[in-house]
Amino acid sequence: MTGRMEADLAKILIPRERIQQRVQELGREIARVYGEQSEELVIAAILSGSIIFLADLIRCLPFKMKLGLMTVSRYRGATTTGGETHLVQDLNEDISGRHVLVVDDILDSGHTLREVKRQLAERGPASLRTCVLLRKTAKAPKDLNADFVGFEIEDVFVVGYGLDYDGQYRNWPDIGVLRPELYA
Ligand code: IMP
Ligand code: MG
Repeated sequence: MTGRMEADLAKILIPRERIQQRVQELGREIARVYGEQSEELVIAAILSGSIIFLADLIRCLPFKMKLGLMTVSRYRGATTTGGETHLVQDLNEDISGRHVLVVDDILDSGHTLREVKRQLAERGPASLRTCVLLRKTAKAPKDLNADFVGFEIEDVFVVGYGLDYDGQYRNWPDIGVLRPELYA
């Protein structure tokens, strides 16, 4: 009836246990930075790739926070990014004077994060930081750094734990490399 996802993966890059361990560490890193602040944190999550990471990460944060969701359109069905970045759905939280942490799945070319940061900065947040689960070390631009990074990875197309190819594989619990012949 349904396709088996394992058959489409060339290899598992980051197994689920390592993801969980690192997400808990990230939670502690984030708590160290924001823990003493009296202003409530707003997490601004970029849909849809961040959803699984987001759900795990925010449950590791031991203080009050609010969640804002935004959709950025950039990448449709392809394994390389290109074209304009634009906000399809804006945050449902006011961020003026608030500490804001942007959460995304992956820092690849950096276009998405750069544009989101630019737009949110215009609204006068008290602070603006970024957290990504993955960063493609070789490709991410030197002048755009995420404040919190889960894993540095090589320049391969990955799926699972929220990341998709053409809408699929988000529900795979590990982060895996898709067999290149599937998208060539
Ligand atoms: P950017 O190139 O940094 O703007 O990344 C844009 C978006 O492309 C990310 O938020 C992901 O949703 C998607 N993306 C980039 N690289 C990958 C990948 O290896 N697998 C799945 N999605 C990716
Ligand atoms: Mg994304």
